[in-house]
Amino acid sequence: MFARLSLAFSLISYLWLQGSFAQNDPPAAEQSDRVAPAPSASPASAQITFESVYVDGPYIALTFDDGPNANLTPKLLNMLAAHHFKATFFVVGQNAADHPDILRRAIHEGHEVGNHSWTHPNLGKMSDDGVRRELQKTDDAIFAAIGKHPTLMRPPYGSITARQKRWIHDDFGYRIILWDVDPLDWKRPGPAVVTSRILKETHPGSIVLAHDIHPPTIEAMASTFDQLERKGFKSVTVSELLTMAKPRPPKATATPRATGTPATSPPVHSSPAPANPGG
Ligand code: NI
Repeated sequence: MFARLSLAFSLISYLWLQGSFAQNDPPAAEQSDRVAPAPSASPASAQITFESVYVDGPYIALTFDDGPNANLTPKLLNMLAAHHFKATFFVVGQNAADHPDILRRAIHEGHEVGNHSWTHPNLGKMSDDGVRRELQKTDDAIFAAIGKHPTLMRPPYGSITARQKRWIHDDFGYRIILWDVDPLDWKRPGPAVVTSRILKETHPGSIVLAHDIHPPTIEAMASTFDQLERKGFKSVTVSELLTMAKPRPPKATATPRATGTPATSPPVHSSPAPANPGG
């Protein structure tokens, strides 16, 4: 009722203005009919799952799974702040419920929190009801901590079926975030190895996977962040990175390189779907 009245009122004022001033505006119908902008059909908004995105700047998304951890996550937050890097934390619901203060700090400092299930099971092998419980409990714990619902989820181990992705997206509104850079830090290969793997594989648009529950991973981040920064990378949250996504240019045809081309190769964006215990 009120909406209709105010619409009529704005129409009348509009017509009056049209009569009084120069008529260089679009017709009234075009304005009053357009209640909400038409949904854009861009590929980025239709896409549900992301391993990396194509961007035209030095942007990456650092992601940390399985926490928060009472000791390690605050240390990591200090390091991120020192480099002005933003990160995304895919939290295990049980840990989120235990440490809501850490989630609040992360959000306060510009980071993002995503859903990584309640008990870290292999979702791809579970019933829909079981998956729903895992995600709902974690969504509730995140909401209780930070007052808003996550919009991203990452399946543990990267394990999820195409059908699950669809209904999870429809029912929870989540986008499903995988990764294209995996240093296998959960195997604890040593901080120097974690750093060199990340430095070697990361390119603009990368989503980097690591875990804030392993002390050597946090140790590795000091040098990793230094070197990423020196290379000009800027880490943003996954949601921010997704908003920067541009259509991928057509794949370059396999023409032989001109002689004398420098050894540096352009970023490669085609990465296989990850499937390992890291997520
Ligand atoms: Ni995980």
